[in-house]
Parts: sequence; structure tokens; C-alpha cells
Amino acid sequence: KSPPLVVVGSANADIYVEIDRLPKEGETISAKTGQTLAGGKGANQAVCGGMLSYPTYFVGQVGKDAHGKLIMEALEGGGVHIDHLNEVSAEPTGHAVVMLQSDGQNSIIIVGGANMCGWPDNLSESDLKTVKNAGIVLLQREIPDSINIQVAKAAKSAGVPVILDAGGMDSPIPVELLKHVDILSPNESELARLTGMETESFEQITLAVAKCHQLGVNEVLVKLGGRGSALFTQGKEPITQNIIEAKKVIDTTGAGDTFTAAYAVAFVEGKPKVECLKFAAAAASLCVQVKGAIPSMPHVELGKSRTLKLNDKLLM
Ligand code: RIB
Repeated sequence: KSPPLVVVGSANADIYVEIDRLPKEGETISAKTGQTLAGGKGANQAVCGGMLSYPTYFVGQVGKDAHGKLIMEALEGGGVHIDHLNEVSAEPTGHAVVMLQSDGQNSIIIVGGANMCGWPDNLSESDLKTVKNAGIVLLQREIPDSINIQVAKAAKSAGVPVILDAGGMDSPIPVELLKHVDILSPNESELARLTGMETESFEQITLAVAKCHQLGVNEVLVKLGGRGSALFTQGKEPITQNIIEAKKVIDTTGAGDTFTAAYAVAFVEGKPKVECLKFAAAAASLCVQVKGAIPSMPHVELGKSRTLKLNDKLLM
């Protein structure tokens, strides 16, 4: 039996508004359409794991409301175990306003709600046991740092690798968290924020990554948008991967989450790192071709070879 992927993190109701352009200050504009879809970086990554037919657990919090139900259904529909998803009564489910523009690019505002409040001071024994029994643990930055630190420490003490997706809050990442992380996965701007360095050119990125190594992170998986991705392992040559062109970019929301989670699945399955990068790039390329974060997760069929599928139409 494969040791599971355990994702600890956020769940949001993504409130989509489709617009031609962002409103100017003081301006009211009409959206072409609006819709509420399940999302949140943690839930997105968990559903990605589940849809890739890898045993996946989600540890997180939602409110006792309609958005919480939407998320639970989406997680279960994606094959994710939700026994460690808590419903908290004092807070609403986290939500995100996703302003989706015609070119598929987005601007997002998040409201933390139950992702940020109402966590116990100490995670339950049962949550920690699940973390310690994982094959790999995946974290992001939309829940309190204190929870991420507890999880990362528990995982590390049990020899379970930890990936931290740097997406989410823009506050500095605590050193206490970084030192328990095996793979840090930022995009260029998160890397710049974390290190206080420029990350335009590959040389600048390499220097910024060296600073992450000094902070105690052995591997840095940098997502470079249209320029692809690169994996830097301390003391080794970086491995680079180009993007796999999408037929049409509809919505980039959740593409970074898909990339990180698909990488985690390939990694825990023991694939060579080059293959992990390629698999992650293929998954992200499929994700951008459908609107919504969770609705756009590619899937593989249980028991079949790892052929990525999206809506049963696209094969890769
Ligand atoms: O990474 C995409 C996610 O960021 C969205 O689903 C939204 O909920 C925000 O958390």
C-alpha cells in the first residue's frame, strides 16, 4: 500500500467574476458572469493528488456553512479522505474573489475565515499520526504558520519529506518552518519576497536560491510561469523544464497548485526528478485549459499507466 500524500492547508470558496479588465479606483464595472467554485491552495493540491489516483488526505478547516459543504463535496468528489477536515462554528469558510480576465490571467483577494482562525493550539494526536504516516506532506501559506510548523516538525521527526509551496500570505516565512522543509516551491515573486533579491534572470534566481539553501532548505523548486520551472538541489546542477504549451489558456487559477501537487505525487512514487518536473508541467498545462481551480484538475485512471486526462477529452 502506498504511503499517502497528506496535504495540510486552506480551503476556499472561489467567487469568480469574469471581467474584460480590472476596475479603476472608484469605478464600478459589470462582470460578464459570476460563479462560486471550490478552491483554496490546500484543497486544490489535495484534489490534484486524489485526481491523480494517489491516496490523499486533507487536514484543514471550513465553517459550518454552504461554502464548507461545497468544499467537502469537491474534496470527496476528487477522491480525497476528509476525516481530518474540521468544521468550525465560529468562523465562515475561507473565500477568495477571483477576478478572471479574458486572457486567462487573474487577480485574487482572499478572506482567511476558518483557514486562519479557530485552530487548536496543538493539533490532535490523530492529525499528527496521519502526518507521521504520510509518504509526503504538502503545505502552503494560507493557514497559520504555527500549524505549518507543528506539521513540518512532526513530519521531519518521522522522516517524512515536506514540501512547502510558498504561495499564500506575503509575510516572511519563519526560519523555524524553513528548517523543517525539504523542498520549497516558490514562484519568482515569492522567491524575491523571501530573499529580498531580484529574480528576473536565471542568474539572479540562482543567487536567490543559494540564499534559501543557506536558510536550511535543500531543494528549491521554482515555478517560472511561461518560462517553465527549475529544480535546484544544493551542490548539484539545476534541472530545468519548459512549459508544455496549452492549446488555449482559459484560467491560470490553481496551475501553481497543480504543478506542486503533481510534482509531489511523482516524487513520492519514486520517479526520477526529471520525470517529476515533466509530469508537473504536463498537469499544470492541462489545468489552465479549464475554468476553476478544482474543476480543472487533470486525472489519471486508477490501475492504468500515468496518462493524464482532462474531462476525458485531452490526453497527454
Ligand atoms: O492558488 C489558487 C488559489 O488561491 C485559489 O483557489 C484561491 O482560493 C486562492 O487560495
